[in-house]
Amino acid sequence: MRLTLRLVLSLVLGLALVSLAFSYYQVRADKTQLRKDLERRAEVLAESLEQNAAPLLEKGSHKQLQRMVDRFGNREHLLGLVIYDAHESRLAVSSDLAERLIERPAAIDRAFRSGAGYGEFLRLGATTAHIYALPLRDGGSILGALAIVHDAGYIRAETQHVWKDTFLRVLAQGFVIALTTLLIVRWSITRPIARTAQWMRSLRTGRSTSRPNVPDWDVFSPLTNEVTTFAKSLVAARAAAEREAQLREHAESLWTAERLAIHVRSRLQKSRLFVVSNREPYMHVREGRVVRAVVPASGLVTALEPILRACDGTWIAHGSGDADKETVGRKDGLRVPPDDPKYTLRRIWLSKEEEEGYYYGFANEGLWPLCHIAHTRPAFRAGDWQRYQEVNHKFANAVIEEMAGTERPVLLAQDYHFALLPRIIKKERPDARVAIFWHIPWPNAEAFGICPWQRELLDGLLGADLIGFHLQSHCNNFLQSVDRAVESRIEWEHFAVNREDHLTVVQPFPISVDFAESALQDSTSESAYMDRAALFKELGVEASFLGVGVERVDYTKGILERFLALERLFEKYPMYVGKLTFVQIGAPSRTHIKRYHELLAEVGAEAERINWRFQTGNWKPIVYLQRQHSHQEIQRYYRTADVCMVTSLHDGMNLVAKEFVAARQDEQGVLVLSRFAGAARELRDALIVNPYDIEQMAEAVRVALEMSPEDKSARMKHMRRAVRENNIYRWAGNLVAQLCDVRVEKVSPTSQPTLSKAASL
Ligand code: G6P
Repeated sequence: MRLTLRLVLSLVLGLALVSLAFSYYQVRADKTQLRKDLERRAEVLAESLEQNAAPLLEKGSHKQLQRMVDRFGNREHLLGLVIYDAHESRLAVSSDLAERLIERPAAIDRAFRSGAGYGEFLRLGATTAHIYALPLRDGGSILGALAIVHDAGYIRAETQHVWKDTFLRVLAQGFVIALTTLLIVRWSITRPIARTAQWMRSLRTGRSTSRPNVPDWDVFSPLTNEVTTFAKSLVAARAAAEREAQLREHAESLWTAERLAIHVRSRLQKSRLFVVSNREPYMHVREGRVVRAVVPASGLVTALEPILRACDGTWIAHGSGDADKETVGRKDGLRVPPDDPKYTLRRIWLSKEEEEGYYYGFANEGLWPLCHIAHTRPAFRAGDWQRYQEVNHKFANAVIEEMAGTERPVLLAQDYHFALLPRIIKKERPDARVAIFWHIPWPNAEAFGICPWQRELLDGLLGADLIGFHLQSHCNNFLQSVDRAVESRIEWEHFAVNREDHLTVVQPFPISVDFAESALQDSTSESAYMDRAALFKELGVEASFLGVGVERVDYTKGILERFLALERLFEKYPMYVGKLTFVQIGAPSRTHIKRYHELLAEVGAEAERINWRFQTGNWKPIVYLQRQHSHQEIQRYYRTADVCMVTSLHDGMNLVAKEFVAARQDEQGVLVLSRFAGAARELRDALIVNPYDIEQMAEAVRVALEMSPEDKSARMKHMRRAVRENNIYRWAGNLVAQLCDVRVEKVSPTSQPTLSKAASL
């Protein structure tokens, strides 16, 4: 039976049963009431007639008795009166009753016997009647009796009326219910389900991916969420399958998420993967009453998620969102990504003092400016160093706790926040394979030597089996720092350090982006030209060329230098005034630190100053968007910009440069790239600039704007090939492969490094 019919029938049946029950009780109550009324009326009438009838009976005046009977016998519902003498013989009777009441009714006998009034219901032919008999007395002796007979048929008629009303009411309500149910089912259930089914059909046949407009009611949200996740997985799976097919077709050996998953699982075998980083991949933040999961602006997060997703590992990180504590479960853990859980996130809570000393102080006011040559003086405070050590121990303890029960665990520690952690872990778990990846540059030995705790930092790092940097030059700098500061034997031919019988291999792993994901997002875009016009409209500016810069507002990124270069361009080439608008997306970062706080204001003021100088009508040279943008929002700028500027004063790699290249499926757009960013080693077809040379940068922007489409395409093609081949999966695959090749037993001072070169992919 169809759902609608079942629904209508059950509703109508339910309603009918309820109505019947109520009507039944009402009929019973009405009937009792009417009968009581009738009995009462008969009694009152009998008592009032008694006064007249008794003297007449005593006198033996039969005629008068008959007259009285005739006079009163025609009242409403009254069938008549009858009077009997003391021998119970009939003396007078109403004419209507004479024939119907042939035998003496039993009520008369009962009244004579009891000497009191007696009433009952009885059948008179086809009629239901009520008789009330009352003895007539003369003082103490009974002279006779008076009986009053009413027609009680009207009681039945009344109750039948109630039943009829009930039937009509149920009929009308049933009709309304059926109609309403039909409409509700059609509008609120059948239609959305049909639309969802249609959508899933389109997905299955690969025609569309856009979500249908299903009402976002509570009742549907579990379904729509599931279907949306399912749809995403389906699209991703199809894209992956297509990619794999293409790869087979071209006999290429590209790294994909699927390949990485298989690779990591086969390398780990029964072991488990653990990742430690300061920044968490998902932070829960409160927005009004709603708690939202946010992905922080960090290249590190982008890079590491695919590995964790692939092998269901555990990521240990600082819980820094204001709603983080409310969203964790047992042991401060939760499964993420929230809409498609694939791995565990364990959050570590830090006190204000710990965060202040370890994160803001030692990591970001000490190590960050120490490792980036950007002319901001590092600050080393003993208190910060103390906190840094404590927090490294705190994270290490959590890692050790999580590793309990896992044999030969694999740990990927991340970045300059955890220089001491590898040594602590190795001490507790010598069977663990430990790697640390340093996401920022490593300066030369002299520059690093100004850190008062350089020995402790190096010793902590050398607890690892593998240390990764983006570039070979960073590896060289690190080995030189080790050579100068700590006692060890450096095996230059294998890039390894042997210290106290423990071998640490130091290798470059240039980090990258997920090239395929950008291509996936691009597939529904309109032309770059249309998108650019739409973006300008949203920004409220009128321009022909779009330039873009995307970063955290950090003094290493060269944002001010970039603005000066734009100013110089407008000075030198006024034809671009009114034509080129540069959109600077700047996510506020580490604003608790004075230098960052000041920089935020400086960047805003510099944009203001240049705008004030050149601005005309609806055009302005710089649009400064000072907030964090989602990946999708940024993609729109990447896809439509004529030029993207990455002008870091010093940068480990810089993933913005690679993201821009990955987003340009149209093979257009020009990248202006600082020679001091690690990415410049791979993206040689960018316009490479020195960010300190304002004149050169201005010139590079002009060249970018005037470049022929063919030239742009040739450059972009080369760069895209580089990013496609050296993508994030290759980075992760290489890192895990190298680490899993480590033999964790102790090495003798003369032994060879335990990593085989052949493991490099
Ligand atoms: C750099 C660091 C990362 C850090 C990111 C964002 O890329 O190498 O470790 O997560 O900046 O900085 P934040 O301090 O906000 O985590």
